[in-house]
Amino acid sequence: MDKDKLQEIYLKEEYYWRTEPNELSRKVLKYIPEDQRKERKLVDIGAGEGRDSVFFAKEGFEVLAVDISPAGLMKAEKLASKEKVAIKTLDADINDLIMPKEVDIIYSIGTLQYLHPQNRNRQFQHLKEKTRDGGLHILFAFIEHPEVEIAPDWGKNEYLYGREELQSYDKEWDILDTYEYIFDCSSSSIPHRHAARVIIAKYGSVTPISLIKKFFFVISLSIFSKT
Ligand SMILES: C[S@@+](CC[C@H](N)C(=O)[O-])C[C@H]1O[C@@H](n2cnc3c(N)ncnc32)[C@H](O)[C@@H]1O
Repeated sequence: MDKDKLQEIYLKEEYYWRTEPNELSRKVLKYIPEDQRKERKLVDIGAGEGRDSVFFAKEGFEVLAVDISPAGLMKAEKLASKEKVAIKTLDADINDLIMPKEVDIIYSIGTLQYLHPQNRNRQFQHLKEKTRDGGLHILFAFIEHPEVEIAPDWGKNEYLYGREELQSYDKEWDILDTYEYIFDCSSSSIPHRHAARVIIAKYGSVTPISLIKKFFFVISLSIFSKT
């Protein structure tokens, strides 16, 4: 859907994407035990009206909700205050988003198609550099699929991913889970289908190279302490 149309929708009182969290947001909790959630920094890219951002804040995460629509972010703040939690918001375009600081989790659902193909390598690289050691990427992208037609409300600034594309950006990370699926949708009140890919990847601190580096670091420390 075009971002102007979404902005118009977000100016209405009701929550277009509803206020219950998306199923994927609950999956994040599986990877981060309850006692480790407090103060973990999570960025929700394309947060819309904030249903998932608010869910994460209620679970104890420190949340930054990013979206190109100020009206969506205002509703996200309103929902947060209704639920008595705090979230930060940032009005930014994913195509030139500069992350204000390092985070533990990058979460994005329903928005990565607005990242123009020519900007993808650069922006995914930036997101990786801004993810802390041991951090997670939980990403959902609409993909090309031979059995699924382009959605009737697909906007001119939206670009599908290739079927193997999303996995390629985090390929040197630990892929904890990834799957492709087709689902029904009725956005814009026209029933249609989408194909999508989900990836949950971890910036693994324990790789063979990191172990070798750690080994030499410890050896040099012990030599240094004896001199
Ligand atoms: C399908 S909605 C998903 C909203 C939210 N993630 C959810 O699941 O409720 C896509 C969101 O992407 C936002 N968006 C569109 N273009 C964007 C861009 N270039 N940069 C950042 N966000 C964008 C829209 O404003 C919209 O809120």
